[in-house]
Amino acid sequence: MSRPICDFVENYCKALPDRYHMPGHKGRKFLGCEPYDITEIDGADELFLPSGIIEKSEAAASRIFGAKTLYSAGGSTLCIQTMLYLTALLAREQGKIPKILAGRNAHRAFINAAALLNIEIGWIYPKSGTYETCRVSETEVDEALKGGDYTAVYLTSPDYLGNTVEIQKIAAVCHQRGLPLLVDNAHGAYLKFLKTSQHPVDLGADLCCDSAHKTLPVLTGGAYLHIKNGAPKVFFARARSCMALFGSSSPSYLILQSLDLMNDNATDFKDRLREYLPKAEALKREIRRLGFLISGDEPLKLTILPNDFGYSGSELNEILIEHRIFSEYHDEMHLVLMLSPYFDDGVHRRLLNVLSGVKKRPAIKKTAPPIPRPEAVLSPNEALFCKTEEIPTEKAQGRISGVSVVGCPPAVPLVVSGERIDEAVIDALRFYKKEFVTVIAKES
Ligand SMILES: Cc1ncc(COP(=O)(O)O)c(C=O)c1O
Repeated sequence: MSRPICDFVENYCKALPDRYHMPGHKGRKFLGCEPYDITEIDGADELFLPSGIIEKSEAAASRIFGAKTLYSAGGSTLCIQTMLYLTALLAREQGKIPKILAGRNAHRAFINAAALLNIEIGWIYPKSGTYETCRVSETEVDEALKGGDYTAVYLTSPDYLGNTVEIQKIAAVCHQRGLPLLVDNAHGAYLKFLKTSQHPVDLGADLCCDSAHKTLPVLTGGAYLHIKNGAPKVFFARARSCMALFGSSSPSYLILQSLDLMNDNATDFKDRLREYLPKAEALKREIRRLGFLISGDEPLKLTILPNDFGYSGSELNEILIEHRIFSEYHDEMHLVLMLSPYFDDGVHRRLLNVLSGVKKRPAIKKTAPPIPRPEAVLSPNEALFCKTEEIPTEKAQGRISGVSVVGCPPAVPLVVSGERIDEAVIDALRFYKKEFVTVIAKES
């Protein structure tokens, strides 16, 4: 496999050049990585108009993913902005007003992009479950699509806790109606490398983003935008210009080299993953045997529900920190640990040692209030330009939210900008200890 971006930068460094160009560190070592941190100099190609090493590297990634794959040095956030812009272009091309049906557990990057692009959102709520998941079925999506002039469907899978939705069935529903399916696969880049790929593009998604940095050996910020073969032509024609609209004109070449190197590492990663998965399953089995509940169906997420064991997620996290074990996320009800084929055996052993020393206590009985379904009074775009003020949550009933409030990381928002704060929202805000809330000022 080739690694054109890495090769170019390596050769450039070896030539000991006089760097009369950005960045200002001139390749001197301050952090240590500066010699490799170049910019779009001659021969280094251009991220949003590639015709050289970046084009070659992306072509290699496209072969791996079986799609048209574009690099992002701005995380999945940039890819989500691009996906929304592309679907808005498609809708306009078809003479329609863009309107997206979205799972309510969308990341704020989605809400912000929809607000900026003035795209209407119709939410699909989970029938049951917690604030962190939105496991909707194909029947629920089909039902929801009957209720509006939607031009696309947007889902988040896997979610932060490691739950996935049935992309294949939902894609079929979307395609029957001639609608593209967009998937936020920020947490699932590695799904491509399972024995049978579970990657959303292979399951029928037309557009999909992966935060390569979350689950692959890629530097923070590295992500992919995938366009499925056979997707609407406008997606291929405009993807780069859409990305350029939101992305920095100075993409990090450290990130680009890291994405480039991933192509070279793909086979090794796949082999390691296959070898590691039984160990991950064994770890989960052992933790269950100790008496802890585990949720989620995604192999590389370990989501412990410790309330039955008598601990909050944050309390259990404190115990882990005492032993220098750091989690991805914790709250009252969850402790999320991200697993990796790069772990050595000692990593699992140390976790099991600590967990086996935790004394069981009486169960904590705590349930989150029902997920609110507030009325949308203004679109997120209208709300974006209103004057806002911060007020105590207890005085916010009836007011319109000026920002989106998410109780914990990517999860069902308690309220989205432009929605009216009702009693159910206040209950949820109280539960998540949000004492103040930003609302639209009365005079705006
Ligand atoms: C579900 C989900 N989507 C999108 C994002 C944004 O991804 P990035 O940080 O790569 O921009 C995140 C980040 O945590 C996420 O959890």
